[in-house]
Amino acid sequence: MGLFITFEGLEGCGKSTQARLLYERLQARDYPVILTREPGGTRIGELIRRILVDLQHTEMAATTETLLFSAARAQLVNELIQPYLNTGGIVLCDRYADSTYAYQGYGLGHDLDQLYAIIKVATGGLMPDLTIYLDLTPEEGLERKQRARSGHAANDIEQRRKAGIIPTSVGLPPFSAPSVSSGAEWNRLDARDLVYHHRVAAGFHELIQREPERWRVLDARLPIDQVMQEVEAAVEPLLAGVTQLKDGR
Ligand code: TYD
Repeated sequence: MGLFITFEGLEGCGKSTQARLLYERLQARDYPVILTREPGGTRIGELIRRILVDLQHTEMAATTETLLFSAARAQLVNELIQPYLNTGGIVLCDRYADSTYAYQGYGLGHDLDQLYAIIKVATGGLMPDLTIYLDLTPEEGLERKQRARSGHAANDIEQRRKAGIIPTSVGLPPFSAPSVSSGAEWNRLDARDLVYHHRVAAGFHELIQREPERWRVLDARLPIDQVMQEVEAAVEPLLAGVTQLKDGR
């Protein structure tokens, strides 16, 4: 029931922008839709996010990191994603379990079978119907992120805040401003070296090869509008199963 779409990709690939654009398009077409993100998306999840991204937390063990991402995900699935899907709505999520396989599995070397078990506990086995992967190299992504950080930080913060993480439709309190971080900020996870980001990228590509029918790979270097059209084209066939609000929902 419902439709679950996730966005994945390396830092700076533009997935948050595309997720927001799709959210706006679907909303304008009267589809019941919410947009959320990982780590975060709930009050508890945003608190966990702060622990995860804090540059001071250099001593964090890899297992702790994996379990914190998973704890935030468990909360998000239970509190927001599954209930909204149960109403027949569309959930858009900026990152999900595939990020844990790519970053903690392929990136940090956490055993993939163990990760599978942890993710299954956290999500109850819920996986997306469609995952959009915005493809670019780690070098391109990091350069974009650093450019945003130096140049357009203020603008970007405002845009991300407006984009919001929008759980109000299921009665959650709105997020306070400090809990919404900017893509322009430099966090503990971004600060990892290029070799790590290459392992993550290779990991994503392996995940895509394992389950090609779930993934749609798009070239993140194309202009925003063009990527958006391709995202919409990928989503369109799946909308047939969702009832629009004006049709009496
Ligand atoms: P964020 O600032 O949201 O980056 P992005 O805009 O690229 O999503 O920070 C999220 C970071 O957390 C990002 O570096 C990817 C990482 N991450 C993991 O390592 N494992 C996970 O399971 C998830 C969901 C994210």
